[in-house]
Amino acid sequence: MKKEVRRAVIAGNWKMNKTPSEAAALINEMKPLVADADCDVVLCVPFVDIPAAVEAAKGSNIKIGAENIHFKESGAYTGEISAAMLKEIGVEYVVIGHSERRQYFAETDQTVNLRTLAAVNAGFKAIVCVGETLEQRELGYTETLLKYQTKMALTNVTADQLKNIIIAYEPVWAIGTGVTATADQADEGNGFCRAAIAEVYGNDVAETVTVQYGGSMNAKNADELVSKVNVDGGLIGGASLKAEDFSIIVKATSK
Ligand code: 13P
Repeated sequence: MKKEVRRAVIAGNWKMNKTPSEAAALINEMKPLVADADCDVVLCVPFVDIPAAVEAAKGSNIKIGAENIHFKESGAYTGEISAAMLKEIGVEYVVIGHSERRQYFAETDQTVNLRTLAAVNAGFKAIVCVGETLEQRELGYTETLLKYQTKMALTNVTADQLKNIIIAYEPVWAIGTGVTATADQADEGNGFCRAAIAEVYGNDVAETVTVQYGGSMNAKNADELVSKVNVDGGLIGGASLKAEDFSIIVKATSK
């Protein structure tokens, strides 16, 4: 295991929270707190918040991401947002295949793959989410499912494009529930994702891919989670809406 060859990334996923003015205020509060981070710091925010967030983050080490991207260049897709639209307003990262999109908005492994390809082809860094439900875990399918979701998401992604992919292992049962995976469970889940990448692209490539953990990661448990060899940072929901908590997670990852 070569954790030192990978860049740790702490990314906030604000989900459907914060108006544009609230977004600017929160980023202004966060900026000085994360200024000396020794990891990449990203905030993925609602589409309408992006211009305010990009403006507020200017000159800082905070990068701005979107929470979804459509796979077509343009056309009759009411309510969707294209790569070109996101590019023009300064987005650098895109979250793809979050379990909330899979659960509530009919996202499938196929559409996750199409969105991933659209994102990397347009030059974004894609944060691709995978994760098992509690039922799948209890049935013993965690490894099979994580490997399947990871491989499906990466279909037709070249080894070169993989440099712009981050995998986020987010056990569905740990999201927004306050129940965090133990550090060993997170390490194991992340390891399954990395093993899936190794099966397709080889070990050397797999060792370079950033694999985050997400699911009730907070100021108290981040230290232990990110100390694990396969945990290269996190995708943070609730705790990314609080400047101080988020900065503590960034600091824990910067050690
Ligand atoms: P919580 O940190 O609120 O559990 O959310 C995790 C998540 O879904 C990040 O994408």
